[in-house]
Amino acid sequence: MAAVILAAGKSTRMHSSFSKVLHKIYGKSMLEYVLDDIRAIGINRGVIVINDQNWSGSKVKLPKGVRVVFQKKLLGTGNALLQARSELGNFNGDILVLYGDTPLITTDTLKKLVEKHRTSRASCTLLTATVKKPAGYGRIVRDEKSDIVKIVEEAEASLYQKMIEEINAGVYCFRAREVFRALASLKPRGPKKEYYLTDTVDFMAKRGLAIEAIHTENPDEAIGVNSRLDLARAQTLAKNRILRKFMVEGVGIIDPSTTHIYNDVTIGQDTIIYPFTVIESNVRIGKKCKIGPFARIRPGTVIEDEVEIGNYVEIVRSRISSGAVIKHRCFLGDSRVGLGVNIGAGTTTANYDGRKTHITKIGNGAFIGSGTILVAPVVIRNGAVTAAGSVVSKDKKTQGHKET
Ligand code: UD1
Ligand code: MG
Repeated sequence: MAAVILAAGKSTRMHSSFSKVLHKIYGKSMLEYVLDDIRAIGINRGVIVINDQNWSGSKVKLPKGVRVVFQKKLLGTGNALLQARSELGNFNGDILVLYGDTPLITTDTLKKLVEKHRTSRASCTLLTATVKKPAGYGRIVRDEKSDIVKIVEEAEASLYQKMIEEINAGVYCFRAREVFRALASLKPRGPKKEYYLTDTVDFMAKRGLAIEAIHTENPDEAIGVNSRLDLARAQTLAKNRILRKFMVEGVGIIDPSTTHIYNDVTIGQDTIIYPFTVIESNVRIGKKCKIGPFARIRPGTVIEDEVEIGNYVEIVRSRISSGAVIKHRCFLGDSRVGLGVNIGAGTTTANYDGRKTHITKIGNGAFIGSGTILVAPVVIRNGAVTAAGSVVSKDKKTQGHKET
């Protein structure tokens, strides 16, 4: 099976200068969510259809086996899938088609969809969900035998069809040959004269080809992000999913509503996260730590076990060894903090000289007095003490360190 991700929209409803699918949710773009999913279900061959005008400057790392094609004129989702044909060459198997703006589809659901498609040998198997306020989604139209006969887009739906709550989630398995045959005969439709991928369902059903579907019990995973309001909703859903995973694994989260943990974070058992804490991507936190309230842990930070980090503490690109205590109003950037170090209230690493960042090393057991400014690059030796309010910088004459 090969995957095709459609990601070439104009971002009109997003009002953004860059592609909608590059907008991030907890440190990861919507497109990366979809890419991670297809890799997780074992599909190694894929094509992403993009629009070069709003793609430039994007830093998405594409996995091996995933190619990019451009859709020059944005003529709809049906036209977008046609662009992938050249990349797929003579491929004659099944294709999984996903939209780059549906980041919350779970791998479990994708596996079930693929499984259903394989066992039923239908020409198309698609994912549906039941949504109470389905505005904006394509509606699933079934006949009296409950077979799917077509998908009607909101703009073209009759009053009766608008009341249908079963929607098209925008994930499909197609037999490649059948879908490309259907696409070749599509007519442009709707106010924007677009070719709708959803019209292939009608085309196939009319020719007696089997259309199957699976229905997800969790409509949240089907969210399609078309606007910034949708993005905020998707963010809340992703947030709860991430927090739930940590709580199930034994991390204490005192107030889920004010805690934000990004993707690509690990946290050990019995660590407690206090309210209003933000933990960004690429952060490792050990066991039995206390983090927050009001802490911000930024990328490139490793916090070992039994560390206490209190209110108004910001840490970036740093390693904090076990037993360290950093409890009040601090900024530590590019620092290496030793075992059991005590960092007094208001300590600041002056890590940036206007051109480059520099490293601060604090040895095991050191005691940093309140309000110390550590002018990097600087080394505080094991067990050393700095006085409250001191400024510690490198002594150019002795190459040692001086306190003022
Ligand atoms: C689409 C479906 C709708 C479904 C909904 C699920 C169609 C016609 N409609 O509507 O039935 O309920 O998704 O979220 O497919 N794109 C291109 N090229 C284009 C246009 C779009 O690559 O010319 C890409 C977009 O980047 C986007 C995806 O296709 O990721 C879907 O397009 P979008 O405009 O968001 O479609 P919806 O109106 O959400
Ligand atoms: Mg959409």
